[in-house]
Parts: sequence; structure tokens; C-alpha cells
Amino acid sequence: MASLLVTNIGELVTNSLAYGPTPLGIIRDAAILIDNDVVSWVGSAFDAQRLAADEKIDVDGAAVIPGFVDSHAHLVFAGDRSGEFEARMSGNNYSAGGIRSTVAATRSASDDELRSNLQRLMEEANSSGTTTIECKSGYGLTVEDEARSLRIASEFTTETSYLGAHVVPSEFDDRKDDYVSLVTGAMLDACAPYSRWIDVFCDRGAFDPNSTRKVLKAGIAKGLLPRLHANQLKQGEGIQIAVEFDAASADHCTHLTQSDVDALASSDTVATFLPAAEFSTRSQYPNARKLIDAGSTVAIATDCNPGSSYTTNMPFCIALAVREMQMSPAEALAAATLGGASALRRNDIGHLAPNARADFILLNAPSYLHLAYRPGVNLINRVFRAKGKS
Ligand code: NIG
Ligand code: FE
Repeated sequence: MASLLVTNIGELVTNSLAYGPTPLGIIRDAAILIDNDVVSWVGSAFDAQRLAADEKIDVDGAAVIPGFVDSHAHLVFAGDRSGEFEARMSGNNYSAGGIRSTVAATRSASDDELRSNLQRLMEEANSSGTTTIECKSGYGLTVEDEARSLRIASEFTTETSYLGAHVVPSEFDDRKDDYVSLVTGAMLDACAPYSRWIDVFCDRGAFDPNSTRKVLKAGIAKGLLPRLHANQLKQGEGIQIAVEFDAASADHCTHLTQSDVDALASSDTVATFLPAAEFSTRSQYPNARKLIDAGSTVAIATDCNPGSSYTTNMPFCIALAVREMQMSPAEALAAATLGGASALRRNDIGHLAPNARADFILLNAPSYLHLAYRPGVNLINRVFRAKGKS
């Protein structure tokens, strides 16, 4: 259908300051007109009465919000690590080493197995309101397995990240430099055609600052854009490196010094929080207030992966950010939509103003507040998603 008018919306979150105060740009008693999968008009339901459309839907006072933009996920893998989760919930600590068990399962899976697991997770994410999702490699760690991970991911999303530098695989134990040469050489050559981003897990048990810089530089030289896993497990140079490379996003941001906060606040690098990872590893949550109050742009994403955060559910992450990270419900929703779009350097998603992609959610609730107020309840009535990969 060419045009669709959704009207009698009790609360329309546009994320555009042209329509209401920060941070959500809310219009009450609103309507939205979609033309060929693009937002063509937003305004009051009263004014919408004069508009013609091929189809009209009256939503009876329910809230409409932008589709969630999940800017950090690891969805190409096989196997499960529920045993590791059980051990953690009995007192064990999370460590980067668990990644290797998913690497073994992923390497022995067929393309079809990886594709159908990815498709299942994509559908799960979409049914909970996610309309754009980033997807990393990082569980193959050979030239062939990284390249096929990204080839399969790129069948579903344009937001693909090459994460050959996730951990050093066991066959390179004691030859870490050789692995970095592979990641920056033949593996990069094979992966770059399917990747938009270059990512590195810069942390304890993964890659040190020197290797991180080498990998980012090589990726950028191949035309990829930088983003980084930084400061999840400890303080370190990750945030400084992200800012130095003008990375689109520094992800996790759990252990920050004041100079990390200052560096992020005076940069274009988005601070992306992954609160489901702290939930699932029973770790300290990041200090979101400090970053927001310093003026940093922030995002919330799922980090969906079988080790540290096996959820595709953005409303759950919003509820965690509100309850555990002192974010207001409005800040958390903005971070999960517009913030995610900034973390992907996209201006066509994460908001509902004219010319945006028609990606939006009809809630089974009168207000977005219910996302955190009614945790664990499925409030997604219907997800509208523009055709084509996002
Ligand atoms: O973002 N931190 C690095 N990678 C994932 C964890 C991956 C795993 O444990 O399998 C993360 O939390
Ligand atoms: Fe991650």
C-alpha cells in the first residue's frame, strides 16, 4: 500500500525537537502519515482529518514510538552457554575466555545453521520492536569463518561489524602478534566487502591498546568505520582510543575515569550502554548519570550474544537502565532509539519526522512510560517496518 495514516495516537514520540520539548518531542492526540515506507507528515489528529490515505488506522489513544535501534549485537553463532550462566549465578566471574567455546561451536556449524539461528534472533528482535540491528562477526576467528559470518549477516542488515579482534583463538596461543597480523591482513581483505564497521574488544583477556590501534588503523585504511568495545571489564585506554579514532561509539563504558567521561563528552563518540550484559554477568552497572550530565550522547543496546547477554529485548534494557542506571524513562527511550541511530551515524532512523524511514511501534499502552513502569510485560502491539534492509 502506498500511503497509511495512523491516527488517534494518544502520545506520539517523534524524537524531533520541532514537535515538542527534549528529549522526546512528544505530540499528544497525534497522527502520522506514511508514504511509500517514508514518514511524510506528523501532526495533530484533528489536522489529519483533511489528509487522504490508501489506508487509515485508528489506534484509540495508544502510544506510538520510533522502532528501537539496537546498535550492538553478536548474532552469528552456534551453541549455547547456559551452563556458564548457571555457574556465574552461583558465584563465578565472567571472563572473555568463554568466547572460545562459542567459537568452537560456530566453526563446526553449517552456513544454514548459522543463517537460521540468525534469522530466529532477528525475528525475535523485530517482534519486540527492534527495526534496525547491528550485527558483529567474532565467533569464527579464521579467514573463512569470519568472512562467512559477515556474508550471512549482510543478508539481513546493512550494519555489519568485522570483529576478528574479539579474542585470540587457541591455535594462536603465544602467537598473539601473528593473529593480529592475520586480522589486519588476509582476514580483513576477506571481510571488508561485507562490513561497514571495524570493531575490537579492547579489554582484559582480549586485545591491548597497541593491537587495538593496529586493527582500527588497518580497518579504516580499508574504508571501514571504527567502533569499539571499551572498558567493560576494567578501566583502561579503550575510551581514549575510541575518541582518538573518532569512533562512532564506545560500547559498554562500565569502568570509567573522570578523564574518560570528559573525553567522551567533548567528542562525537556516542557512549553505548549494554545493561543486559551487567545483568547477565552480575556486574556493576555503568554510571549513566555522570555521562549524561557531562553532556555525552548516549545509547542503549542489547549486546545480544550467547555468553554475556542472551537477550534481543530492548524494552528489558530500557527498564534496566531506568531502574539500575538512574536514567529517566525519557532518557532511556531516547537512548534506545535516537541514541542508537547516532551510534550508527544514521539520520534516517531513530526518529519520526518527515523523511525518516517508517519504522515505528504501536504500544499496548497509553504512554512510553509503561516500557519501564510495566517491566517484563509485552507491550508491543504491532511493529511497522519499512521494506528493505536497514
Ligand atoms: O560484548 N565483550 C565482548 N564480547 C561480548 C561477549 C561475548 C561472549 O562472552 O561471548 C560482549 O559482552
Ligand atoms: Fe559486545
